[in-house]
Amino acid sequence: MSDNHTVYQTTEFAKWAYAPVHLMNQEAYLFNTYFEKDRRTLEVGTASGRVLIALQKLGYTDLHGCDFVPEYIEVAKQRKDIEPGSIEFQVQDATELTYADESFDQLIYVGQIISAIENAEARKRAFPEMYRVCRPGGTVIVSVLFYDARMRSIGHRVFALWLRLVRALTGNKESTQYLPWMRQGGKLNLAALVDRSARNYWFRGAEIWGELESVGFKVIGCGTKPQIEARQLYTNVDGLTRQELSTVLYLVCKKTGTA
Ligand SMILES: C[S@@+](CC[C@H](N)C(=O)[O-])C[C@H]1O[C@@H](n2cnc3c(N)ncnc32)[C@H](O)[C@@H]1O
Repeated sequence: MSDNHTVYQTTEFAKWAYAPVHLMNQEAYLFNTYFEKDRRTLEVGTASGRVLIALQKLGYTDLHGCDFVPEYIEVAKQRKDIEPGSIEFQVQDATELTYADESFDQLIYVGQIISAIENAEARKRAFPEMYRVCRPGGTVIVSVLFYDARMRSIGHRVFALWLRLVRALTGNKESTQYLPWMRQGGKLNLAALVDRSARNYWFRGAEIWGELESVGFKVIGCGTKPQIEARQLYTNVDGLTRQELSTVLYLVCKKTGTA
């Protein structure tokens, strides 16, 4: 069975290495609303810099990005559509960043990078790292795969039942919040059906909220695409219960104090 580092180096590589530079509407709204262009900004799990280059085009001046796949960082550094060196790119792992304490005003964890950390202990290390490198008064925008939303679909509930059966037969006690990649490299991933694939971790809303607050952040808003399009972020996850949901949950967090 492969892991997500290998998946991003192989089957998913081209998709993120050569992603067109753009911001999704949800991302554009969140950055416009919660970020400032002159603040020192880091994207963790940047791949080849899709988001950072879009922000540079919008006038952001102090941009940094890292990814744990060195091949993405090579592509990012060679890009012809940015001034060489105008965005600083490094190979770093979200679970053990080497940036100095309190060195960024704004942090970006979109593209569900936290969900891609499949090992529970490693995932737990990513939150204190996020908090450590953020300045007091700083802002973090995070997106994760949203289990509550996914389980609203009958098809996915049936698949979860199937997965439980497969896991029971193989003695695997893992929760169905660990879901195998259903598609890879744009194709159906048949290995998912027999649970022989790399997996992503799908968070419950209260769980990701709790993880962020347990390290010291104050979560000031959350929502999925429909809420963000309606410009109505919620100040607690219960507010989402009766809403139409999509399967990516965005959260905006503040580190208390002043920079
Ligand atoms: C779905 S891609 C999103 C890329 C980019 N954030 C975007 O939205 O365009 C997820 C990225 O997270 C990176 N990643 C996953 N786990 C990581 C980790 N532990 N540390 C650093 N990067 C990681 C992957 O290599 C991949 O580039």
